[in-house]
Amino acid sequence: MPAFSASSPGKIILFGEHAVVYGEPALAVPVQTLQARVIVQAVISGTSGEIWIEAPEIDLYAFLDDLSGDHPLRAAVAAVAGEENLDRIPACRVQITSTIPPSSGLGSSAAVSAAVIRAFSAFLGKRLSDREISDLTFEVEKIYHGTPSGIDNSVVVFQKPVYFQKGSPLQFLAIGSPFEILIADSGIAGDTGKAVAAVRDKWLADQEDCGRIFTGIGRLTRKAKDLITSGNPLGLGPLMVQNQAYLRELGVSSPELDRLADRALQAGALGAKLSGGGLGGHLIALPGENVEGVRQALLDGGAKSVLLTTVQG
Ligand code: PMV
Repeated sequence: MPAFSASSPGKIILFGEHAVVYGEPALAVPVQTLQARVIVQAVISGTSGEIWIEAPEIDLYAFLDDLSGDHPLRAAVAAVAGEENLDRIPACRVQITSTIPPSSGLGSSAAVSAAVIRAFSAFLGKRLSDREISDLTFEVEKIYHGTPSGIDNSVVVFQKPVYFQKGSPLQFLAIGSPFEILIADSGIAGDTGKAVAAVRDKWLADQEDCGRIFTGIGRLTRKAKDLITSGNPLGLGPLMVQNQAYLRELGVSSPELDRLADRALQAGALGAKLSGGGLGGHLIALPGENVEGVRQALLDGGAKSVLLTTVQG
């Protein structure tokens, strides 16, 4: 029995989270060592419409029909089915596994949705382009985050470094010279929906001040793009420090993330900032020469784990 499988990587946002929701650009890159993987296989003895879902990491074993109407997995399958009635879909088993920690700013929800959409469309014999898969993933992301900017689905579907700005064509980022980033788990679950809502409240209360912050973040992101494409990634350090200061002003950092950033910088990192929605989740650091020293400092500062990734084209 043929199996249809697909996978999508995790991601980090190097610059621009939150401001991207308000029209500023952001930079994000895939993290290939973290993957969501989906396998869809027909169940010959089953009845049409019986779609069995297995997602051991979240302890989910259920028929799709038994999930609530607004469950993201149900939405992902329905998005692929389109006009087709779910009852007419051949019986199948959908296995979902992921090494991307959820609620951590690493794009877990977008990667799972994208892999489900890709594998399920192959199972149904539908050929979807990356653009279509990205657009469908964006629709499912709305269930998770309300008002996603669209950066997560773009980077995990196209699996390339992106320079993303709402309303503009997606730009892939040429990496002039590869560089390493440490990704530290703060041990505190992030909450992107809550963080985005808190920033919205802050913006509604003081649009001028938030506008200053968003514009400042946008300026850093544009400078970062130039440094990355021209092969000068070590110059990103001070920009990361300034980006983190703006994120702290927005109220989306946390004591744990601030402590990790301080420890990384004390150990010689060139820059450090939270990545993703914040309020927990992951910190990223540009380690410069002292990769092992910065990794150890992050662990000593309370990081639950530290991953090294190389940003490359
Ligand atoms: O927490 P994540 O990995 O989903 O990233 C959220 C990034 C935000 O800019 C805060 C929201 C968005 O949709 O762009």
